[in-house]
Amino acid sequence: MDRRRFLGAACLAVAGAALPARAGEGLQVRLGDGWDEVRALFDLDPALVHLGGLLIASHPLPVREAIERHRKGLDRDPVGYVFAWDTKERVRAVEAAAAYFGTSSRSVALTDSTTMGLSLLYHGMRLQPGDEVVRTEHDHYATWYSLDLVAAATGAAVRAVRLYDESAAAVREEELVERIVGAVGQKTRVLALTWVHSSSGLVLPIGAIDAELRRRGLREGLRLCVDGVHGFGALNAAMGDLGCDFFVAGCHKWLHGPRGTGVVYAARPELFEEIAPVIPPFGVKHTEGLFRSPGGFHAFEHRWALAEAFELHRSIGKPRIAARITQLASELKAGLAEIRRVRLHTPIDPALSAGIVSFDVDGVHPAQVVARLREEHGIVVTRSPYGSRSVRVSPGIMNGSAEIERLLQALHALA
Ligand SMILES: Cc1ncc(COP(=O)(O)O)c(C=O)c1O
Repeated sequence: MDRRRFLGAACLAVAGAALPARAGEGLQVRLGDGWDEVRALFDLDPALVHLGGLLIASHPLPVREAIERHRKGLDRDPVGYVFAWDTKERVRAVEAAAAYFGTSSRSVALTDSTTMGLSLLYHGMRLQPGDEVVRTEHDHYATWYSLDLVAAATGAAVRAVRLYDESAAAVREEELVERIVGAVGQKTRVLALTWVHSSSGLVLPIGAIDAELRRRGLREGLRLCVDGVHGFGALNAAMGDLGCDFFVAGCHKWLHGPRGTGVVYAARPELFEEIAPVIPPFGVKHTEGLFRSPGGFHAFEHRWALAEAFELHRSIGKPRIAARITQLASELKAGLAEIRRVRLHTPIDPALSAGIVSFDVDGVHPAQVVARLREEHGIVVTRSPYGSRSVRVSPGIMNGSAEIERLLQALHALA
């Protein structure tokens, strides 16, 4: 069965309605009044409310089926199957990634995770003593640890900017832009930012930061690099909207791609020339990005199922997904505001927030909140492993308003 028919059959099987779109547009998932058809694509335990999708994805049906198909082929004839499919499927994954984020396929490299992408990017940058890197105090350790390792290896200096003094919930866009751009100087070679912060849920206005850097004449020679994993698959943006030079994301969170997959995008293919390979790439020399992808044999059945994840998101519709996630996060924030002992860390403003909602319950340790929600109410949420270490809720495409309501009821009981 070819790819289009395969995805169509997968959606039809669960939704009872999948429309072949106009030629070249892939397939549309018809959603009717709700998102039940999308939820049915996931094999999630129905006894639980799954609101921790920011940590690691459950594979939707088209991804599961593709993995299974490739696994069977590899197990039957590993050598024959790899030779028959590797180049074809890698190119297909890169082309799907490029189409999803509005870039050329020559601007995409494949990795195994956000952490791997950030590390390869920063280690490949050929920094020297005297070069400066600016990051923030609020980045995930995938960013700061990579940069510390690079600083130790190269002699470059890393400076961290504090973005707010009290809470991310009260921060204004102008203040964020001013603190970040104000920290960039003539020696700054790299500005390392996180698009959606996974401890607070704060979204950085990357485009406004880029514009202000340009207005102040600080953009030439500076590389604006973004850890975008928590916006990728959750926000409706393309690479060109952001104004960064490099964008790194894992595909195994909001995109619901195969676990162990990620991407690095360059704003222009020639930017990859600045990045020295750290892990030798394998073959496929006709696309720069792909040529920069770390070589070695991978979990092929996962990597080759990446295109299905991009196609599923595109078939549902990026704007529709972003609107849905914003709606659920807004319902949650509105409900949390009514619980006296809850302190919200995420901005209410949808322009400064995405799908992650972070909060504390006064008098109850966040680890207790997470444990009690699961044990007493069957609700799965997570806790930030760094920064505030607060409770995090991340409604995704498999969730609905009724689940947000269930969480709010449970928190009322707990708080
Ligand atoms: C902001 C941020 N960056 C990077 C990572 C690491 O992602 P990965 O598991 O894809 O390496 C995480 C993990 O959740 C994160 O929250």
